[in-house]
Amino acid sequence: MTTITQVRTFDGNGEAREAWNGVLFDKFVRYRDALVSGFGPCSTAALERHPLRPGARVLDIGCGFGDTTQQIARLVGDTGEAVGVDLAPRFVETAQREAAAAGVRNARFAVADVQSDPVGGPYDHAFSRFGTMFFASPVVALRNLRRSLRVGSTLCMVVWRKKEENAALFDVERAVLAIVPLPATTEEPTCGPGPFSMASPDVVSEQLLAAGFARATFERFDIQMRVGADLASAVEMMMDIGPAGEVMRLAGVEARRREPEVFAAVQDVLRPHQRADGVSLPASTWIVTATAS
Ligand SMILES: C[S@@+](CC[C@H](N)C(=O)[O-])C[C@H]1O[C@@H](n2cnc3c(N)ncnc32)[C@H](O)[C@@H]1O
Repeated sequence: MTTITQVRTFDGNGEAREAWNGVLFDKFVRYRDALVSGFGPCSTAALERHPLRPGARVLDIGCGFGDTTQQIARLVGDTGEAVGVDLAPRFVETAQREAAAAGVRNARFAVADVQSDPVGGPYDHAFSRFGTMFFASPVVALRNLRRSLRVGSTLCMVVWRKKEENAALFDVERAVLAIVPLPATTEEPTCGPGPFSMASPDVVSEQLLAAGFARATFERFDIQMRVGADLASAVEMMMDIGPAGEVMRLAGVEARRREPEVFAAVQDVLRPHQRADGVSLPASTWIVTATAS
């Protein structure tokens, strides 16, 4: 396992806000099509398995560009409401603008740190697609979220399963780390605990119980995620975003110096996943549900 020492002082999710509203927002914009179409099957499956009733008020946590918030707004219909919250103002501005342009009138958006800010309510459901894994203090955040829900309301969140079960992503990261080790210190902001922080059902079920939820369930949901139309674009994306992209970003000058070697190594890892229609990687998630008790 690789660890990195931050030279910043601990300020809750302040550093994550800086990352999500800055460099990570820019990267999400750059790879938006691949990310949103890759993530889409997860939210669609979660919403099919755990349907929202028309008229419900639903919170969408870490809503990003708000495509799931719009999807939820359509599902709950005119008498319901979808409220997307995100730590990063740039995501919220984009989500707001796009929902208005799409004529979705029952979707609203707000900038909020789910760990520390009021998020409104009471809601009948809370939903999240990959938006709950970055809290510095997950139990504090889940407790704050619990306070916004009615007793008996459901939480449904999609999170990544462990790195080793997302082998292709993990292999790419390992290939990069073999060439460009992480620096001992960095001043670059990082995204918080990271995409695999809710991968353990043992840990997450304890967090949910401690936060006032009951009846936690974990359903494994596997996807094939297309990361490029061809090998070169897949390598470029993997070197720029996700676990390997973060290594490259944090390694800074050294990463740039060794870019040709890294490119070749990542290409070797991704080549077996190349098909006629592009490069797709197997990935694995949990659809987690729990009830506010
Ligand atoms: C991996 S992105 C997922 C975005 C979106 N849900 C999707 O599936 O496309 C994680 C999102 O969570 C947001 N986020 C991270 N920490 C947060 C916090 N403490 N409170 C609210 N949102 C947060 C980020 O700004 C980012 O938009």
